[in-house]
Amino acid sequence: MNANAAQVPTQSTTPPPAPQKEAPPPKITLAEQLATLHQTHHTPNYAPGLALVKGKGAYVWDADRKKYLDFGAGIAVTGLGHCHPKLVKAVRKQSKRIWHVSNLYYNDQAPFLAQALCELSELGGKVFFCNSGAEANEGLLKLARKWGSDDNRFEVITMRNSFHGRTLATLTATGQEKVQYGFAPLPEGFKYAQYNDIESVKAHLTPKTAAVMLELVQAEGGVLPADPQFVKALAALCEERNLLLLVDEIQTGVARTGSMFAFQQYGIKPDAVSLAKGLGGGFPVGAVMTGPRLQDVFGPGSHGTTFGGQPLACAVARAVLQTIRDKHLDSNAETMGYLLQNKLKPVIKKYSFVRAVRGKGLLLGMVIDRPAKDFETLLARKGLLTICTAGNVIRMVPPLTINARQVKRAVKIIEKACAEWQAQLIQSSKTQEKSS
Ligand SMILES: Cc1ncc(COP(=O)(O)O)c(C=O)c1O
Repeated sequence: MNANAAQVPTQSTTPPPAPQKEAPPPKITLAEQLATLHQTHHTPNYAPGLALVKGKGAYVWDADRKKYLDFGAGIAVTGLGHCHPKLVKAVRKQSKRIWHVSNLYYNDQAPFLAQALCELSELGGKVFFCNSGAEANEGLLKLARKWGSDDNRFEVITMRNSFHGRTLATLTATGQEKVQYGFAPLPEGFKYAQYNDIESVKAHLTPKTAAVMLELVQAEGGVLPADPQFVKALAALCEERNLLLLVDEIQTGVARTGSMFAFQQYGIKPDAVSLAKGLGGGFPVGAVMTGPRLQDVFGPGSHGTTFGGQPLACAVARAVLQTIRDKHLDSNAETMGYLLQNKLKPVIKKYSFVRAVRGKGLLLGMVIDRPAKDFETLLARKGLLTICTAGNVIRMVPPLTINARQVKRAVKIIEKACAEWQAQLIQSSKTQEKSS
């Protein structure tokens, strides 16, 4: 046979093997899909845990339909709870009329929101609208620079351990090196004083000082309220030395601490106050409220932002303020805050790793004697969302609408988590003893 001839396959008597059934692709959950997409397509500056897909009032649901009591509220943002009917109505109504109007024209929402903020704050000045907390604080800093520019005064004294945002100027204003790390060279003109220490503020004064800026509760810094004596002395110092007093109320504002603005509890009138977070109840909106000294400092063309004061955002913010007033949510925040603090007192007594509960209104922090991230995770597993801040503080910023039943439920979850954590700590110290 010719060796080159094509070989004719001999007929086999056994049937060909049946085609193998392909195994179905492994099922991927929505949460897994979101995590993969996030890791692939988002810059890696956030490390989210759960995937939250639905919210109603003080509750949220994750992608696996697990329900949580939400004491994080989008980091003190959803003050009226999730999808509050008044806010849904405001969005619906305004979204059918007009969404965005540039600042080249009047719109029929922003002026009414500005009027409401002026009336509520009684600062005696005017309002500038923007979109976020950092942007509102940029506004405060630019106001201070412009105000001081004729006398070459541009320095701003801020507080150590403060948090003012992530833009270059606001991260420089922030008194925490970890926030500034890697972003040098930083803008000049910032000095950092010890919080609650008037002598430290005085020690940082120079002929170039224009302003002092602070939070009345250092929220990201571990929920540390300002001492009323310090704030009084600071206001007097600013008055005496002709300095601006700037208050960052991004987190404390809009009834979070039990009054519409935290400065009202301190009996001071700042020259300017920044707002964001709770103002839109979840819709991005920020504001700078000024007193008389700063109200006309931004002349035409000196400052601005495309989306600032757009009617959709302002319509929602108006509904937020109106609902807070109608439902007295500022006093609810005060009452529920007291209740939560009181209910947590026995927990502090029983578990030595819980050192204290501190804060104002519904901006509270449970101080743990060690890193608390795992405790935050444990609480979430048990159905309570909180925010670990400053390493060892469990921050609780529930909606201003919460009721006593929800507070008690949260405390029950905290008690259970404490018992479990205590058992874990005992177990791990026994294991350590054995191995040493
Ligand atoms: C006190 C304070 N200022 C400023 C900011 C920055 O706000 P935003 O993240 O909206 O820029 C925050 C945010 O957590 C804050 O708590």
